[in-house]
Amino acid sequence: MSKILITGATGGLGSAVADFLSKKVALTNIAVLVRDPQSEKAKTLAEKGFELRVGDYTDKASLAKAFTGIDQLYFVSGSDIAARLPQHQNVVETATAAKVGHIFYTSVSLTNLSPNSPLYESMSHHTKTEEWIKNSGMRYTFLRHNLYSEIASMFVGAKEQLLESKNVFLPTGEGKVAFVARTELAEAGANVLANPAAHVNKTYEMNGSTKVTFAEIAAFLSDILGENIGYVSPEVSDFEATLTKFGVPAEYIGLMTVFSLGIAEGIFDSPTTDLEQILGRKTQPIAAFLKVAYQ
Ligand SMILES: NC(=O)c1ccc[n+]([C@@H]2O[C@H](COP(=O)([O-])OP(=O)(O)OC[C@H]3O[C@@H](n4cnc5c(N)ncnc54)[C@H](OP(=O)(O)O)[C@@H]3O)[C@@H](O)[C@H]2O)c1
Repeated sequence: MSKILITGATGGLGSAVADFLSKKVALTNIAVLVRDPQSEKAKTLAEKGFELRVGDYTDKASLAKAFTGIDQLYFVSGSDIAARLPQHQNVVETATAAKVGHIFYTSVSLTNLSPNSPLYESMSHHTKTEEWIKNSGMRYTFLRHNLYSEIASMFVGAKEQLLESKNVFLPTGEGKVAFVARTELAEAGANVLANPAAHVNKTYEMNGSTKVTFAEIAAFLSDILGENIGYVSPEVSDFEATLTKFGVPAEYIGLMTVFSLGIAEGIFDSPTTDLEQILGRKTQPIAAFLKVAYQ
């Protein structure tokens, strides 16, 4: 049996992949990459019986050591957007040199990634990484994720904020998103990792089964909270000025704005159902996710 390394294992996605995979393959075949083996999350992984490998995407020497003897690499994209591209290059180059046989890369599912897309700057990192991987000669599987359901909560704000403002305030217009819970993406990742031969050089668009607008999300929240929550799609200048007034950091406003504009254009409104095939069922509707998150 081959040795599998899961990166980002102290994070939400990677830790869930490790848990799902441990129900399918022997623990001795699973290793996890952590930056700090003394962190609480790393200790929890060790207590569960996962072999810890220490490495940082910024440090090729650490990656070379961590990738030794690894046949399959589940590569979670870096979380620092500004630093992501050179980090990804380090991972791909080191995995190639270490003769990793098959790389599973968590990419993004978008209907438009042309240079005129509002998300081009941040999301083209994924296109570039896919290109490097294809050119590396490693077998690959691209797991292109739509937006996490968890991100919906980030966009609309916490329960207390909503109960005060009584509005979802976001320039997403009529744009729809095929939201999907991160745990379901993790479960699908584990399914693919457990049966790698069936997924060689495949690209999967991993979208939720239900697509919703933020007006629909506001309606779900009205039901859940028992209050009438409206939806306002402001002009971008109004959106930015309002968030600035509330002291939201400029970098965060910039990110929220480009994502909202991308959503308004339908960039996350993808029709494919690859995820349903991999899970063998439809995904959890966002309304059910919100019900748990906001009760
Ligand atoms: N589709 C979506 O809606 C969506 C939303 C958010 C993020 N994402 C992307 O999906 C990825 C996984 O999401 P998540 O929710 O699991 O994120 P997360 O909880 O923030 O976890 C990120 C993981 O990556 C690790 N990491 C970050 N920088 C690293 C580096 N330089 N070297 C090695 N490991 C590093 C972190 O390690 P530490 O514990 O040491 O920090 C952590 O384990 C994110 O990194 C991001 O690229 C997608």
